[in-house]
Amino acid sequence: MSNAPLNVLLIGSGGREHALAWKLAQSPRMGRLFAVPGNPGIGHEACLTALDPYDFPSVVRFCGENQIALVVVGPEAPLVAGLADALRAAGIAVFGPSKAAAALEGSKGFTKDLCIEAGIPTAAYRRFAEAESAKAYLREVGAPIVVKADGIAAGKGVVVATTLDEALEAVDACFGGAFGAAGAEVVIEALLVGEEASFFAICDGRTAISFGAAQDHKRVGDGDTGPNTGGMGAYSPAPVIDAAMEERVMAEIIRPTVAALAARGTPFSGVLFAGLMITEKGPELIEYNVRFGDPECQVLMLRLESDLLEILLAAAEGRLEGVTPRWRDEAALTVVMAAKGYPGDYRKGTPIEGIDDAEALPGVTVFQAGTAQKSLQLVAHGGRVLNVSATGATIAEAQARAYAGVDAIRWDDGFCRRDIGWRAIGR
Ligand code: AMP
Ligand code: GLY
Repeated sequence: MSNAPLNVLLIGSGGREHALAWKLAQSPRMGRLFAVPGNPGIGHEACLTALDPYDFPSVVRFCGENQIALVVVGPEAPLVAGLADALRAAGIAVFGPSKAAAALEGSKGFTKDLCIEAGIPTAAYRRFAEAESAKAYLREVGAPIVVKADGIAAGKGVVVATTLDEALEAVDACFGGAFGAAGAEVVIEALLVGEEASFFAICDGRTAISFGAAQDHKRVGDGDTGPNTGGMGAYSPAPVIDAAMEERVMAEIIRPTVAALAARGTPFSGVLFAGLMITEKGPELIEYNVRFGDPECQVLMLRLESDLLEILLAAAEGRLEGVTPRWRDEAALTVVMAAKGYPGDYRKGTPIEGIDDAEALPGVTVFQAGTAQKSLQLVAHGGRVLNVSATGATIAEAQARAYAGVDAIRWDDGFCRRDIGWRAIGR
C-alpha cells in the first residue's frame, strides 16, 4: 500500500466531530481534512465546507473534485438517510453503516428482533402498533417497566416508569404523536438493574474489534438528578468493563450482531456503540447506536494512541482483521459545559472566553460543540457548548484537571455538573 497523503471529509458539527478531527489531523497520512458543516473548533483542524450532507449527489461530486479517500460520518441521521450507501455506490470509501444496517439505531424493534434471532442478552420485550393492546399488556405486567417510542426521538422517547399510570401515560404520549413518526410503534420492555456503560466496536462488515468503553452521565443535575440530556460528561476507561467483561461483551453481544447482519446480507461497517447494562447475570444490551457516543468519543480520542485514520480506513476497506488499537495508559474525563436552561430552552450568542487559558493547564484539551464565531468573538450557539477534557494517571487526576480547565473558562451563561466521574472515583 502506498503512503500517499489522504484527503478526508468529516460530516458533523459537535464535540464528537471536533475530537475526531483533532485525532485525524494527527495522522502522518493526513492530506487535507474537510468538515461539513463543522464548528469553530473543528475549523482549527479542518477546512470548513458548506455542503448539504443530505444532498448525496453534491457530496459525491465534492469527493470527486477533492480526491477524498475517506468520508467519516459522525452523526446517525445522514446514515439512517442512506449517505453511506450513496458514497459506496460511487466507489468512495466511507466510515459508517448502510441505511439497512443503520436500522440498529433507527428502529428499536428491529434491534430487539435481531437480539432474539442471534441470542443476544437484552431485556424481555413486546412490540405494539396501537395503544389498547399495549395498555392491556401493561396492566398485565405492571410496573416498574420501560416504554419506548420505536424510532429516533432525540433521546426523549424512553420512559422508565415506576408506576403503572406513568407507563400508561407514556403509551398515550407515543401514540398521541408526541414523537411524530418515531412513536408509530411502541416497545415495552422489562427494567434492567445494574451499572450502565457505553461500549464501542469498530466493524468492517465481517470483523469487529473492541474499541474501548466509557461511562456517560445522562441526567442534567449533580447526583444524576433532573431530566435526561445528550450526555453531561464521560470518562474512560470504564472500571465496570474489565478485560474479562470486554471479552464477554465481544463474544455475547458484538460478534453475534455483526454475524447476524452479515448473514442477512446487510453487513455492518462503522462503529457499533452498545449501550449496556452490566447486571448480576452479565452484560445486557439496552440499545445500539451506529455512531460514536457524544461525549464518549472525546475521551476515547484522548486515550487512543494508534493512528485513527488507519483504523477507520481499514474498517471502510474491509481490512480490520488483525488490527489492534493501542491505548495510552491513562484515564480521560470530559465535562460538558452547557447553556443555562439546557436541556430546555436556552439563549444563544453569549460570549465565551478563556479556552486558551484552560488549554494551557496540564493535560487539558477543550473540544467545541455548539459554538459559533461572531466576528472575532466565540459565542454559544447550542445546548451543549464545550467539552472541557483532560487526561491523567487516574480518573481522579483527570477529573481534577478537567475542572481546573472549567474554572479557567469565562462564560457567564454556562453551567456544568460538578460530579462527573463520581461512580468510578467512588469505587
Ligand atoms: P435508550 O434511549 O434506549 O438508551 O434509553 C435511555 C436510557 O433509559 C438508558 O440510557 C437507560 O438509562 C434507560 N433504559 C432504557 N431501557 C432500559 C431498561 N430496559 N432497563 C433500565 N433502564 C433502561
Ligand atoms: N452520550 C450518549 C450518546 O451519544 O448517545
